[in-house]
Amino acid sequence: MTGAAVLDDKERLAVADPAGMLDEIAGAGDQARSALRIAQASSLVGPQPEVVVVAGMGGSGLAGDVVAALAFASSAVPVLAVKGDRLPAFVGPGTLLVAVSFSGNTAETLSAVEQGLAAGARVVAVASGGALAALARGRGSPLVTVEAPPGRMPRAALWSLLVPVCSAAEAAGVLPPLRDQVLAAAGALDAEAAALGPAVPTDANPAKQAALRLLDRLPVVWGSGQLGAVAATRFRTQCNENAKVPVVSAALPEANHNDVMGLEGGLGPGRVLVLLRDEAGEHERDGLRLAAALEALGVDDPVVRRAGEGHGLVRLARLTAFTDFASAYLAIARGVDPTPIRTLDRLKAAVSAASR
Ligand code: PA5
Repeated sequence: MTGAAVLDDKERLAVADPAGMLDEIAGAGDQARSALRIAQASSLVGPQPEVVVVAGMGGSGLAGDVVAALAFASSAVPVLAVKGDRLPAFVGPGTLLVAVSFSGNTAETLSAVEQGLAAGARVVAVASGGALAALARGRGSPLVTVEAPPGRMPRAALWSLLVPVCSAAEAAGVLPPLRDQVLAAAGALDAEAAALGPAVPTDANPAKQAALRLLDRLPVVWGSGQLGAVAATRFRTQCNENAKVPVVSAALPEANHNDVMGLEGGLGPGRVLVLLRDEAGEHERDGLRLAAALEALGVDDPVVRRAGEGHGLVRLARLTAFTDFASAYLAIARGVDPTPIRTLDRLKAAVSAASR
């Protein structure tokens, strides 16, 4: 059974989500609290760097996007997220390199760490184990060991990864003290889970409603503000990996300078526009820009989710809870198991076998 009927049927949901991705999403608040305890028990304090580079891929690498977005409005120290084997040429002794990999075995992240160590960067590693943890121990670099209960997928560990990456930036004086904000974000994750979780029926559940609108359509996702842009990326990657569907995502106001042309003439029946708005992080003209784009495209009923008020991590928590639940419901509505990522696994295994 697929479609709306399965989303409101507890027993069928359990069958459709055998590895419990929905439970993982609902547990994000506890995960954030636990990650805070682990990060606070780790020795991360170091000198203020000239630049912070966060190296990581996929579900782990998103933590770098978040830290860069948080630092954007307040930090005098530039923060850059790098996704690939190579680091920029400026990396050197003044760099704090935070390497984040849930498995600890992602080839690109390990290459980046080798380059950073050779260039004299100060490395902090965030991993559940693997080669990255071994490398950090061997080189005497600070290591935060991330919780990895059996079966947890990297994308389901977002808060386990994100909190220590933030803590590394905080401990180097790049971000302000974050304890209270992490706890508030955990509370927001709990509240969103209560509002968007499987027990809430479709007619009262915006994440289920969004999933059903996206069924058999191409999601076109725009995020506003630095954090809304990160949430748009999260929506895309969560729909890719959970629901196994392609998604187009972009950030506002940049989308007004190119993406709108791909939608000229309107969305048509095959596409749905999703807006992830962080109004607290928008420029004062972004609302006007968005309204103009919707009018030009003739879009009058996008799916809209707002981040609301509060600190950046709290606003991000509200948006990621929505992206995560909506993408898992989309998977289930399509009759797809949200958890396995067979093609991605095959690809990583083939590349690492070829590079041995
Ligand atoms: O979501 C996923 O499983 C992937 O995007 C991984 O996060 C990515 O391949 C990197 O792996 P890891 O997070 O173990 O470094």
